[in-house]
Amino acid sequence: MQTRVDFEQRADQDSRRESESRTDGAQTRRAAREPFTRIAGVGGALPERVVTNQDLAEMVDTSDEWITARTGIKERHIAADGEYTSHLAERAARNALDDAGMSVADIDLIVVATATPDYAFPATAVVVQERLGMTHGAAFDIGAACSGFVFALATADAMIAAGSARRALVIGAETFSRILDWEDRTTCVLFGDGAGAVVLEATMGTDNGASRGIIAHALRSDGSHRDKLYVDGGPSTSKTSGVVRMRGQEVFRFAIQATVDVVEEVLAKAGICAADVDWFVPHQANKRIIDASAKKLGIAPEKVVLTVCEHGNTSAASIPLALATAARDGRIKQGDLVLLEALGGGFTWAAAVVRW
Ligand code: ACO
Repeated sequence: MQTRVDFEQRADQDSRRESESRTDGAQTRRAAREPFTRIAGVGGALPERVVTNQDLAEMVDTSDEWITARTGIKERHIAADGEYTSHLAERAARNALDDAGMSVADIDLIVVATATPDYAFPATAVVVQERLGMTHGAAFDIGAACSGFVFALATADAMIAAGSARRALVIGAETFSRILDWEDRTTCVLFGDGAGAVVLEATMGTDNGASRGIIAHALRSDGSHRDKLYVDGGPSTSKTSGVVRMRGQEVFRFAIQATVDVVEEVLAKAGICAADVDWFVPHQANKRIIDASAKKLGIAPEKVVLTVCEHGNTSAASIPLALATAARDGRIKQGDLVLLEALGGGFTWAAAVVRW
């Protein structure tokens, strides 16, 4: 493993070279924070079973028309009995490692963002570590509900920048089907299960002349909103895992403005504007929220990656799953500027800018 001193010496040289040769805001900012983190691979995993809106209409008083019109969701994947968050996380992690051309031996950190861990403890990240056959490095979970992936990405990036990790698996994984009240039509139609993962790697200076990696992130939370979207149980309160409760219209209203605010903050930090963004990959909660946010930000609809129609809201898994989908189908290409954004229970909300 490279030492912090190695990083700092090389960072100094690269930083000087970069600031001499580049003038735009993102690159100048990049030059100021070394080592930086590039995304080396991405992967997703979904349970096999697909549940359509029509299937749900046979369980609760709802319809395909209502769900499609209010949310854009047509179907979602639901985990099988005995299929846990860690199983989906492991599959996504293996796919991301394959994509990066790396093995578990290359990884020294696993961060799992989840609101539906296998157990209160050990952390799901530790279970994934064991399933991957990894006994070195460190693994831990992060809880920030649907914003968890961006919080985990920022945490791993900060650890890499500090020299305390070199290559990390950052995973968003959920089995929200386990914390739904399947008789509550206002929530059970919205969510699905899945996992997505990225491999992060410390890198120095420029990558073949094109600086790639995490350029900026912005994290926010305000617990005074916690009764608008929450789970009504937990180990320390009810001694159960509880189910999701939501005041949908209030979430909807808050989400659009919060999204715009945090995106404007991260774009300013990155020294770019919305027009520079090649792909907007938002948390996939609701197509109406995504459309309204993109419109307010001035991001064209063809630049928005949408998976909510097929996946539903997979909470912390939704952004890496959407990244995996758009990278696999060739939309997101090396060098593209990608904007990530999410809002979740708490409220928590966050955004990041990445050069792919
Ligand atoms: N099928 C049919 N009717 C329904 C359903 C359903 N599944 N759910 C609610 N209704 C009914 C309501 O009972 C209500 O009936 P009423 O008028 O007779 O009282 C009517 O539909 C309208 O209900 P509203 O709650 O006003 O519907 P709204 O237009 O606000 O849409 C929705 C509801 C889709 C939940 C919307 O508020 C929303 O998207 N909110 C944001 C939710 C969200 O994104 N949450 C997750 C973000 S964070 C995270 O990912 C954890």
